[in-house]
Amino acid sequence: MEQYELDAVKAITTRPARDYRTLSVRGLTPVIGAEVSGLDLGTELTEEQLAELKTAFLDHQVLVFRDQVITAEDHKRLAASFGELRPVNPPPENGDPYILEVATSAEAANVFGNGWHADGTADAEPSLGSMLHITEIPEAGSGGDTLFANMYLAYDMLSPAMKSLLDGLTAVHDGSLAFRGHPIPPNYTPPCSEHPLVVRHPETDRKLLYVNPAYTSHIPQLSADESRAVLDLLFSFVPNRPMLACRVRWEPNTLVFWDNRCVQHHATYDYYPHSRYGQRIAINGGPLKG
Ligand code: SIN
Repeated sequence: MEQYELDAVKAITTRPARDYRTLSVRGLTPVIGAEVSGLDLGTELTEEQLAELKTAFLDHQVLVFRDQVITAEDHKRLAASFGELRPVNPPPENGDPYILEVATSAEAANVFGNGWHADGTADAEPSLGSMLHITEIPEAGSGGDTLFANMYLAYDMLSPAMKSLLDGLTAVHDGSLAFRGHPIPPNYTPPCSEHPLVVRHPETDRKLLYVNPAYTSHIPQLSADESRAVLDLLFSFVPNRPMLACRVRWEPNTLVFWDNRCVQHHATYDYYPHSRYGQRIAINGGPLKG
């Protein structure tokens, strides 16, 4: 690695561990993700538990909770402790407007989220985070893991020259790209928004790389060829650098909460012809600033 890359990694991996009073936090990797134990998400959390959870969330970006037998109301209450619930868009035909069913039926040709992305980046005010509660894992007993990548570190590991090229640029995120090859539902206009390419996280104030191959169409300040080349280079960082990512292996009743502002995720479809089921709730965020 170049010295600037080592410095970026070291800044994360040598940070001092925190002491928590109401829960336990065990890192999934030194750079992203943690398993949190000691909480029952089926009960209302205390102010102190919530404050410690928020600290762990900002430190680790992805929190994994095991053995959580919870109702949809418990799931919504937990999500509402972090912000306003975000209605599913396009709205579900039946059922709760805030619950997205993440369901793979047997012998499905495709699954939801099978590509690197963050939720809602085409919206003018992208999502703060998402909570996915998986209750049924593939019948084979394994498969369907989800990968999560740290986009702070993706930015921090860029060379100083690349950082100065990217700082100040914007990128267009086009919701219609997510439908590639599939019809857009009637009466639904996919959102399309422009965000800084390098964003400052609204709570930590740290810089991060905010482009993803599912939604980002182009960089308007560059020519079409330049934009394609720069985006392809930036899109390649996450798949080419496994150290940016952690892998969550689901068990029934695992809930994962991730930060959509600084994390990309990728569902893995390695369990054909089996099924999988969960429910996801997203939380509203605000406008993103460079
Ligand atoms: C998603 O939110 O993109 C789905 C993730 C998953 O199914 O693991």
